[in-house]
Amino acid sequence: MTFRQDHLLGIESLAPDEIAVILDLADSYAALNRGPEKHAAALAGLTQINMFFETSTRTQASFEIAGLRLGADVMSMSMHASSIKKGETLIDTALTLNAMHPDLLVVRHPQSGAVDLLAQKVTCAVLNAGDGRHEHPTQALLDALTIRRAKGRLHRLTVAICGDISHSRVARSNIWLLGKMESRIRLVGPPTLIPTGAADWGVEVFHDMAQGLEGADVVMMLRLQNERMDGGFIPSTREYYHRYGLDAEKLARAKPDAIVMHPGPMNRGVEIDGTIADDINRSVIQEQVEMGVAVRMAAMDLLARNLRARRAA
Ligand code: NCD
Repeated sequence: MTFRQDHLLGIESLAPDEIAVILDLADSYAALNRGPEKHAAALAGLTQINMFFETSTRTQASFEIAGLRLGADVMSMSMHASSIKKGETLIDTALTLNAMHPDLLVVRHPQSGAVDLLAQKVTCAVLNAGDGRHEHPTQALLDALTIRRAKGRLHRLTVAICGDISHSRVARSNIWLLGKMESRIRLVGPPTLIPTGAADWGVEVFHDMAQGLEGADVVMMLRLQNERMDGGFIPSTREYYHRYGLDAEKLARAKPDAIVMHPGPMNRGVEIDGTIADDINRSVIQEQVEMGVAVRMAAMDLLARNLRARRAA
């Protein structure tokens, strides 16, 4: 089992054995992160630049901490204050940074496909930290690690992904990953928030929460992504909460040991009831954040090994 990629642009291009390699290494970094000395040298001597063209709290902090713990020189660029505002194109910005010889470039961008395009123009390893509604590979990997640690496996689980599927890169990356690992995927949400072609993705589609959650092992809630909506997709947030918000009554349809997930940021009282989100017996939302650092350490470590091998060849 080897990890063969030059970049981490999406889950679509990963083989199941490569996903397993990342998760296994991430497990060992999760142990390191719980210990007293949170340092390893995998990225020593390397430079990591984080370019976030869209706001982020946990993903940006997580990539920063991951790079620092592995000994990289880490710089985070606030793209709001950069030359972008002066009209420079994405590619020119990337080429300018590339001339400073970074080794790892972590990019979040509001446009689907922007990170792939950038990866073709630079000589370092590129990690997609979320591009439009396309992919968010490290989110799906951290979700998979969280599920694997809670359930002991990824195959033959019933995973209900609920809410705003249409605008969600988290949903797309998770559908790729869970499909490759042979889980059964259900998409649950109003018809206006589930893409029309979704039934062809090898998933089951439900518009009724009670039916969609029946017997599920994992209940993954998504945020209503208003910033990507152009016009009204739901009658009102109150109506949405009533029909699709996760509360105790709806969760009771899932398996008694079902876990509840959310990538954050959460809208309490819109897609999820606050008491469910905080219930440490059901919710693994904090573990997801914890596993995020471990997964990003693993992904950057593996990409750096390939980068070093390429440069030595
Ligand atoms: C997600 C994102 O940015 O795609 N958040 C995250 O990375 N933790 C989901 C969201 O914004 O709702």
